[in-house]
Amino acid sequence: MKYIKKVDPELADLIKKEGERQANTLMMIPSENIASYAVEEAVGSLLENKYAEGYPYKRYYQGQKYVDKIEALVIDRAKKIFKVEYANVQPYSGSPANFAVYNALLTPGDTIMGLALNFGGHLTHGSPASATSKYFKSVQYELDNNGLINYEKVLNLAKQIKPKIIIAGITAYPRKLDWQKFFEIAENVNAYLLCDISHLAGLIIGKAYPSPVPYSHIITTTTHKTLRGPRGAMILITKKGVEKDPELPKKIDRSVFPQLQGGPHINTIAGIGVALKEATKPNYKTYSKQIALMLDASKPGTILKLNLNELKEVSDKKGIAFEDVVKINENLVIVKLSDKGGSTYSFFNDIEVIAFSDEEYYIFTVDLKQANE
Ligand SMILES: Cc1ncc(COP(=O)(O)O)c(C=O)c1O
Repeated sequence: MKYIKKVDPELADLIKKEGERQANTLMMIPSENIASYAVEEAVGSLLENKYAEGYPYKRYYQGQKYVDKIEALVIDRAKKIFKVEYANVQPYSGSPANFAVYNALLTPGDTIMGLALNFGGHLTHGSPASATSKYFKSVQYELDNNGLINYEKVLNLAKQIKPKIIIAGITAYPRKLDWQKFFEIAENVNAYLLCDISHLAGLIIGKAYPSPVPYSHIITTTTHKTLRGPRGAMILITKKGVEKDPELPKKIDRSVFPQLQGGPHINTIAGIGVALKEATKPNYKTYSKQIALMLDASKPGTILKLNLNELKEVSDKKGIAFEDVVKINENLVIVKLSDKGGSTYSFFNDIEVIAFSDEEYYIFTVDLKQANE
C-alpha cells in the first residue's frame, strides 16, 4: 500500500478499512474466499500492463515472449491438475465462461436445461433473470420435496424437451451430485453435459468431492471460490468432450476470443497459475477435506455436530436474524434468512446452508450484517 497511500490517500484508507472489515467479519460464501499473498502479488503485478489479444503463440501484438509462456504454463497446469484434454483460462469470470460455452455450441433459440436458481442452481444456468434465458430457450429442473435432485425426473424432462446442453452445477446444494447419472441423461438425449464446478473445484482437486471429469464433456469453473485463486474462470474440455466433438476446443477458443472478449487479463491468469500451484501442495488436501465436511451430511456420525445453541449465539453476536432453522439431520441445517435481514441472495428466497461443529463452523452462508450496512 506504500504507493497508493502517497498518490491517493482517500482510496488507500478505504482499502485499509475493507481489509479490517474482512479480518473481523465472517464471510460465509465461497465467492469470498481469501486468496494467498502470492496470488495477490501476481494479480497486482506489472502483467496488468500487457495487452495480449489471442492465444499463446498466436497473438495480434508484439512483445508476447513471456506472456505466451505464462499463459501456456497456466493452461498446462490446469490440464494436468484436472486431467483434461484442453483448458481455456481467459474467461473474465464464471458468468462469461458459461455464456461462452452456450455461444460456442448453440444458436439463439436452442434449449438449455439447468437447475433452477431458487433450488440451488446459478443465474447463468438459464434463470429468467439472466440473459442466458433471453438468447436461449431455458427449461429448468427443480428439487424434490425432500430437497434432492430426482434423476429420473431430470431424465424425463430431458427426453421431453431435448436440450442441446444440460447443466449440472450448483450454487446452493450441499450434496454430492451424481455426475455419472447426469452424463447418462445427457447421452440419452444426445446433449452436451456441462458441469459447472465453480463451488467445487478446490474440493475436487483436493479429492474431497467426486470429479466430473470422467462423466462430462465440458467443465466450467470460477477460480476464486474453493479453488482460492483470483476472480476469474476456466473452461475445460474432457476426453469425452473431444470424442463427442473434436472441434470443441476450437469452438470454445473462438467463442471466448474474439466473439465475446478482447484481451485476456494476463495478471489474473498468472494468479490462477499460482493458485493451481498452491493446490498441488499437501496441505491443500487438508484444507479441502475440512470444507467438504459440511457437504458430508449424508454420512451419519461424521465429525460435524449440529449445535443450535452455538448457532444462535453466533447469529446473535453477528446480528444475523434467522427466521427459520430447519434441521435436516444431525449434521446439517438449512437456514431461512429473515426477510428483514436481507442477504446477498435476498431476492432469491434467502435459502442458504450452514454446517456446524463444536469447534468450528463452516462458512457457507451470507454475512447479513454486511448486507445491511
Ligand atoms: C455455479 C456458479 N457458476 C457461475 C458463477 C458465476 O461466477 P461469477 O460471479 O464469477 O460470474 C457462480 C457464482 O456464484 C456460481 O455459483
